[in-house]
Amino acid sequence: MKEWHPATWQQKPVKHIPKYQDKDALNRVTERLSQLPPLVFAGETRRLREDLVQVAEGKAFLLQGGDCAESFAEFSAGNIRDLFKVVLQMAVVLTYVGQKPVVKVGRIAGQFAKPRSSDAEQQGEIVLPSYRGDIINSLPFDESSRQPSPNRMIDAYHQSAATLNLLRAFAKGGFANLDKVQRWNLEFAHGVGSAKYQETSKRIDEALGFMAACGLTSETVPQFGETNFYTSHEALLLRYEEALTRKDSLNDQWYDCSAHMLWIGDRTRQLDHAHVEFMRGIGNPIGIKCGPTLPADELLQLIEKLNPDNDAGRLTLIVRQGAEQIQQTLPSMVKAVHNSGAKVVWSSDPMHGNTIKSSSGYKTRPFDSILSEVQQFFQIVRDQGAYPGGIHLEMTGQNVTECTGGIGNLADENLGSRYRTHCDPRLNAEQALEMAYLIAETIKSD
Ligand code: PEP
Ligand code: CO
Repeated sequence: MKEWHPATWQQKPVKHIPKYQDKDALNRVTERLSQLPPLVFAGETRRLREDLVQVAEGKAFLLQGGDCAESFAEFSAGNIRDLFKVVLQMAVVLTYVGQKPVVKVGRIAGQFAKPRSSDAEQQGEIVLPSYRGDIINSLPFDESSRQPSPNRMIDAYHQSAATLNLLRAFAKGGFANLDKVQRWNLEFAHGVGSAKYQETSKRIDEALGFMAACGLTSETVPQFGETNFYTSHEALLLRYEEALTRKDSLNDQWYDCSAHMLWIGDRTRQLDHAHVEFMRGIGNPIGIKCGPTLPADELLQLIEKLNPDNDAGRLTLIVRQGAEQIQQTLPSMVKAVHNSGAKVVWSSDPMHGNTIKSSSGYKTRPFDSILSEVQQFFQIVRDQGAYPGGIHLEMTGQNVTECTGGIGNLADENLGSRYRTHCDPRLNAEQALEMAYLIAETIKSD
């Protein structure tokens, strides 16, 4: 591999990185971060890579989801618990109907930095720098809030550490018990009163009852009482990522220990730019967001650069085309990658290509467009002989009002009542779980 170390990206052109005014303060912060303990261990990221090999080979399914942008203000045990809970509920449905293990990855414990379509935001006569996520600046529209401040990286690190601590406790400490998760699902299915969901939940109940009768319960089978829950975020703020990149003493390989999985955003995937340079050298599993402007031949070059040994489990292609466009753009992309022999996980992000401005002025995403993109994605990937192996959602465990539609029929005029996102609109807990039941129907035939 051409010479690489965690700072070689600094010699490349870079986009979507803030300009910090106080360079000394920035250096002090990154120096401090580089001395703080890693947030995840290299061994855990290798285990995720192995899990993703199973997905790449069509033997497992990837469920990735969480906030568009985590925030300091919305940081609470309740919010972490509720996201964890709904991801587990979705995983049970997908595991049962798809008859495959589900690899669970949160957009959490580090998903703080946002690329923005414009560097500046104008309100009336006033123009200020855009909000770029709590790790960089803050949301209120005033001069001092919008100045990038390096100290925010330290705050984001500590919030991520506390979040991971709780996630690990939930995953291994009894909260992930399968019976309990199933009970929540039954409550959901009866609560929303849809016969379709009740039927699936009843069948899962029967399967669990059968296994219990055979002596297989959370008391006797460890997998029924605990789970693995991985973390991920967009590796956008490279000074932060660099500071958390450590060499593993076991295999001498560098890992970005800020999360198990990192991804490259659709706006920072230029072949000869800094983000791709940084990502090529780390051993973590990585994602590439594939938007409609990514030509198939460029994707092939990206794949070659980021995974020259063609290891399955290394790359997840996170496709975000939009329900309206996907038929024009995705078939040739899947065909080119599949024919090249590249081993990848195909995952669908049905959120980022389906954002619209509602009549009430809020940025929203219609539930039906999201579902439609997932369904088309499955069909197209299968038609090309590849395996549609995952789903990537912006979602929360809270009862927010950000995406329209779904079983509660959330209307445009209700968006204002609990619109809390710091960036893009998320599925609320009920919409996310409903999505899992509907996707389960789609993957049944795999
Ligand atoms: C995101 O995942 O929040 C995001 C910015 O996505 P994309 O890079 O696909 O636009
Ligand atoms: Co987003």
